[in-house]
Amino acid sequence: MKGLILSGGRGTRLRPITFTSAKQLVPVANKAILFYGIEALAASGIREIGIVVGDTRQEIREAVGDGSRFGVSVTYIEQEAPLGLAHAVLISEPFLGTDPFCMYLGDNLILEKLAPLVERFREEKPNSQILLARVPNPSQFGVAELRDGQVVRLIEKPRTPPSDLALVGVYMFDASIFRAVKAITPSARGELEITDAIQWLIDAGQVVRPHVIEGWWKDTGRLEDLLEANRIILDTLLPRSDGAVTDSEILGKVVVEPGARILKSTLRGPAIIGKGAVIENAYVGPFTSIGDGVTVRGSEVEHSILLEGSSVVDVGARIESSLIGRNASIYRTVAKPRSFNFMLGDRSEVGLI
Ligand code: TTP
Repeated sequence: MKGLILSGGRGTRLRPITFTSAKQLVPVANKAILFYGIEALAASGIREIGIVVGDTRQEIREAVGDGSRFGVSVTYIEQEAPLGLAHAVLISEPFLGTDPFCMYLGDNLILEKLAPLVERFREEKPNSQILLARVPNPSQFGVAELRDGQVVRLIEKPRTPPSDLALVGVYMFDASIFRAVKAITPSARGELEITDAIQWLIDAGQVVRPHVIEGWWKDTGRLEDLLEANRIILDTLLPRSDGAVTDSEILGKVVVEPGARILKSTLRGPAIIGKGAVIENAYVGPFTSIGDGVTVRGSEVEHSILLEGSSVVDVGARIESSLIGRNASIYRTVAKPRSFNFMLGDRSEVGLI
């Protein structure tokens, strides 16, 4: 069994972060989202992984390398444009050959262990196995209709959903999927849709088996979901302090990485402070990931992700539910006249109080 991780795409919902970097490399609890997927496939015994890449190919290659540090061998598959999930499968045929494979969307996070599912797929050999999760708002997802334990219909963002079972970003296929992705045509948004390809399998009488997952799952394509994933994963960390902590209070689950310096501050977990970060006269509240080399001084931050090298200095109010990009800085201006000074990238968002 091989693995296929989709790490191309446009990432429009996470602009401006995705103007300069891959959304799959945004860290959750200071680890790139993509790495969770690679680790999940590796833990289920998959050793050969193809990663579909687009515009951000260089950055993904630099971050993942040949895969050896995850105990897998990685092959990069170039997608010339984000023409859909089924298009990504189509161009991956030379890599996948006739082997069954597990496809994992590179911006998804799933708690459930894949090993038993991969094992069952290997043994029972259906043509496809799809993962489903019960959601309160099915009209925002691809939704599955089941009958007698089989999938009979998949509908993209239905107005009147036939069930509350949303498609999760992990799928298993045998080689019959290539007939499907070659047979379908682009949807109204110009993409080859994986839901259409799976529907084609169903209509052709192939066996598409559902598996409803128990644990949580997040598609981190939007900021709210990214922060929520960060919240859930931080809660699973084991506290440790490898940095220098002086005149400070650490409450709850907090990880302080080597080289970090905490001075006259309060850290309330779950939170993680990256290598070489400096937290001084500050409050870092629950569900916050502070990246490597970040400075938080004279400020309060909570329920946020601060990427590598960013700084928050002397901000008079608490920063909450925010994603701060790499090397971005927020600071108080002392010069007169007192005014807001911004240099913001396209589509940046600033909420003032
Ligand atoms: P999506 O989140 O559905 O699409 P997107 O990345 O273009 O994002 P947005 O809707 O915000 O513009 O993609 C799911 C995953 O699949 C994600 O990791 C990107 C990847 N992908 C590809 O590799 N190739 C593609 O053609 C598409 C559409 C997505």
